[in-house]
Amino acid sequence: MLKRIWLWLGRLLGRLLLATVALGLAGWAIGALYYQSKYSGPVSTEEEIAPTEVADTQAIIADAIAVVEQHSENTRVLRDAHAKAHGCVRAEVSVRAELDADLRHGVFSEPGKTWQAWVRLSNGNAYPQFDRIKDARGMAVKLLDVPGEKLTADPRHAGEQDFVMFNHPVFFVRDVAEYRSNFAAQAQGKKALAFFPSADPRSWELRHLLIALQTLAPAPESPVATTYSSVAPYRLGPHNIKYRVIPTPEQCPDYRLPEQNRDLPNFLRSALYRQLSLDRAPACFALQVQRQNAEYYMPIEDTSIEWDASISPFETVADIRLPPQDFDSPEQNLACDNLSFNPWHALPAHRPIGGINRLRKAVYEAISRYRLERNGAL
Ligand code: HEM
Repeated sequence: MLKRIWLWLGRLLGRLLLATVALGLAGWAIGALYYQSKYSGPVSTEEEIAPTEVADTQAIIADAIAVVEQHSENTRVLRDAHAKAHGCVRAEVSVRAELDADLRHGVFSEPGKTWQAWVRLSNGNAYPQFDRIKDARGMAVKLLDVPGEKLTADPRHAGEQDFVMFNHPVFFVRDVAEYRSNFAAQAQGKKALAFFPSADPRSWELRHLLIALQTLAPAPESPVATTYSSVAPYRLGPHNIKYRVIPTPEQCPDYRLPEQNRDLPNFLRSALYRQLSLDRAPACFALQVQRQNAEYYMPIEDTSIEWDASISPFETVADIRLPPQDFDSPEQNLACDNLSFNPWHALPAHRPIGGINRLRKAVYEAISRYRLERNGAL
């Protein structure tokens, strides 16, 4: 009797297991088919502007000003994002001597040319916190004395070409409408819930929640030891591109950074100081671009999608060198805080494209003006 019960139980469990595996496989196949059809090329090479974009942008600016005000108690008014700098350092950006003629546009027109630049390295959060806390890390590069008419009318930025990046290849929202609803929910203290705006499962953004969680990553060993991506697309002459900056220590004299004490609140600044100021060792990077191949799913209007580098590999256009230097003085830190980086400080040959970049134009200008005025720096 007991034996029969055991056999029956065994058969039942076996069937249950088989059914679960079959169900899992079917779910996986349906998901794969859905994503393949949803995320497949060809895609447009042109921008597509949603009718609600202007209204969404105004609402986002109002929310962003509320956020900077929240964090300005007893301090200067800081940036709404990337508030904490590890340092602003001088840099040299040299166009590759053998650059492909097809990529010679804007500041990359002249092979061998070296631009002087500022590089600001930052944590992504809206207020300064310990570096060991998971976060995105930012790199903003400002080329100086760049001739030619720019996309911004502001005479203070007439000679500048900026590149603004962080160290994750994708953004946690696709477009301006999603940014508005997500940002408003986050401003109300909702975190993961911001990705589930209604009870309707079709509005749930599970993939975007995963991107947000991956973006908030442990700190690299130094701000010069991680890859920074443009995330959003740009023009490069006739091409649509994304760009990134990768560390190239092999281009610099051999240097090993001593291990830093990650319990110190500002160990990323200490790492930069140790390398550039104490050990007088330069840091090297390559600036690379990735061209859009519109036959594949490389959209302009969705920053949550990574362009596949196996289809469209990155090509190095310039080398960036941070020479040994003293950067950590009160004067330079204040001057750094008063700088404004903006993807729209750019030549028309480097025009930012896509909804998230169009949004950034209005928001960066508004927040920068607001904080500089409040800090008496305008
Ligand atoms: C493509 C995705 C994005 C990247 C790679 C990015 C990266 C950065 C970086 C690195 C900074 C610091 C610049 C500096 O060092 O001064 C910054 C600042 C800022 N970001 Fe973004 N960001 C992105 C999207 C956005 C979006 C969608 C918004 C809001 C709509 C936004 C709002 C801001 C603001 C307000 C600042 C401060 C501007 C200032 O006061 O000067 N960012 N961003």
